Amino acid sequence: MVDIKIIRCSVQDVAGKLAAYGSIFIVYDRNVRSVVRALGVPAAASLEIEATERNKVLSTVEDICRWLMRHDAGRDAFLLGVGGGVTTDIAGFAASVYKRGIRFGFVPTTLLAQVDAAIGGKDGVNLDSYKNMIGAIRQPEMTFICPEVLETLPAGHLAAGGAELLKTFIIDDSGSWYDRAVESLEKHGDLTEFIGAAAGIKAGIAGRDPYERGERRLLNLGHTFAHAIEKLSDESITHGQAVAMGIILAAKLAEKKGIAKTGLAEKLEADFKRCALPTECPFPIKDLGEAMKKDKKAEGAAVHFVIPERIGHVVTMDLDVDEVTGLLTQDND
Ligand code: GLY
Repeated sequence: MVDIKIIRCSVQDVAGKLAAYGSIFIVYDRNVRSVVRALGVPAAASLEIEATERNKVLSTVEDICRWLMRHDAGRDAFLLGVGGGVTTDIAGFAASVYKRGIRFGFVPTTLLAQVDAAIGGKDGVNLDSYKNMIGAIRQPEMTFICPEVLETLPAGHLAAGGAELLKTFIIDDSGSWYDRAVESLEKHGDLTEFIGAAAGIKAGIAGRDPYERGERRLLNLGHTFAHAIEKLSDESITHGQAVAMGIILAAKLAEKKGIAKTGLAEKLEADFKRCALPTECPFPIKDLGEAMKKDKKAEGAAVHFVIPERIGHVVTMDLDVDEVTGLLTQDND
């Protein structure tokens, strides 16, 4: 069991909580310069990056390592990554490999990063057209969840994280969060309670199974379909949008397999629409099947699927892709 530390606090309190760390280096997305200023963390040096999927490559990690070297960062240095999931993935990986690993922490600034990307220790960069092909699993010392950083973001960023937020509650709804989170997302209400709950659920699951040998696979709800959708769209469909579509397909599959009661997919679809999340996959199911077979996790024709039984409970199944596409094609093509 790994203890994954989530600290919920305001931006102003972060510096105090890092007071014990001597030599702090900050890597941040250029879009959140104002957040870095508000943090007021005394840093040995700060580096601004352009946190795009295209820059999520090994050469950016090398640039960060060179910059750390230039500033004489030793093994006792602490790297603080401030930004969305791309920034935390790059910064976490750089910290994992620089001098064989220095300590690091995150201030995630998007909903997606607060509930998902900045928690769990998986980091990495893309290789050619393959996402997260090079990386490591190494836990940050802590992830700071500061609610006020989201206020400065455009609504699109919230929508991108909404799917991962609802996904988490479809996996674990022990605090009856799901329906209330749907309402809050629809009305652009305060998400603080839900972000804290989702971050805690993710930290719990990832802490119990950091290397994804079992329970952690549940977090991939909707993701087998989502990765295929993202790939087929040439990345024009965002991860959050693809996850929303993927969850609906997983729910339809659950009904076809008799695992979920009829009506689950319809309810999720209606809920997602209320939250302005897309629900219709624009590609033929058979194309998704081909893409899924090519996915790096494919073992023979069987692929891991996470299937919702009901809101609050999901199961994993190894299924034959052709069987899945056959079942889903009955009412999708
Ligand atoms: N960094 C994301 C995860 O570990 O799942």
